[in-house]
Amino acid sequence: MNVMQQAARKASRRLVRDFGEVENLQVSRKGPGDFVTAADVRTDGMLRDLLGQVRPNFGFMTEEGEDVVGEDPTRRWIIDPIDGTANFMHGIPMFAISIALEEMGEVTAGLVYAPVPDEMFWAEKGQGAYLNDRRLRVAARRNMGDTIIGTGIPHLGRKENPAYMAEMTSIAAECAGIRRMGSAALDLAYVAAGRFDGVWESGLAPWDIAAGLLLAREAGAMVSRTNGGADPMNNGDMLAANEAIHGRMLRLIRNARRPQ
Ligand code: IPD
Repeated sequence: MNVMQQAARKASRRLVRDFGEVENLQVSRKGPGDFVTAADVRTDGMLRDLLGQVRPNFGFMTEEGEDVVGEDPTRRWIIDPIDGTANFMHGIPMFAISIALEEMGEVTAGLVYAPVPDEMFWAEKGQGAYLNDRRLRVAARRNMGDTIIGTGIPHLGRKENPAYMAEMTSIAAECAGIRRMGSAALDLAYVAAGRFDGVWESGLAPWDIAAGLLLAREAGAMVSRTNGGADPMNNGDMLAANEAIHGRMLRLIRNARRPQ
């Protein structure tokens, strides 16, 4: 965890400077697109270098680079250098570095670091989840009507949009509010911190959620696919919440998917 946190903090310094530059580019005719892609790729490379120096035999799966099988094929880092890229590109400070360590096919350590508010969410399997030094616990709310639920809305070119809208309609009708923050990693970290009572989203990549799922689980959330099945990380659709809310959300999603 020390190694992971040091790498995230170091890589984030440049990222925060780049974020400042995005605000200037926002108003330029060309826009910040290429600059952000370069920042994403550079951060990916920095994290690979920093982690590779201390654990040279581990492999990598990252959003911006090729998969690498390490000398030790049972261990790899799963990294998203900027989760919340669209936010970053628009000057919205809601983005994070996500790093997970997978050992023998299981994520055993993970962090989600939001550099602008300087919030380090981290967890190790069996050791609980933390925000900086504070132990995290999922919210205790049991009444769906009191909950704030996070989600991701399929956008441009994502064909699952109409099906998703039915799920959203059914959940929105029963909760106190829905939030679309633009970073699945932070959505899960917020569930771990009890800020969100639940989250659901489909169509995700392993690097978006590898660390966040461990955080939510270690803070006491029930974690599954949106159909209740196992292994959300490798299927890209996830539902996380405390037990009561998880059960209720599962039923609402199931109803929304039933042919009318
Ligand atoms: C995205 C974010 C977003 C989710 C998208 C992801 P990226 O990851 O997690 O919240 O809705 O599906 O692709 O591209 O910013 O790393």
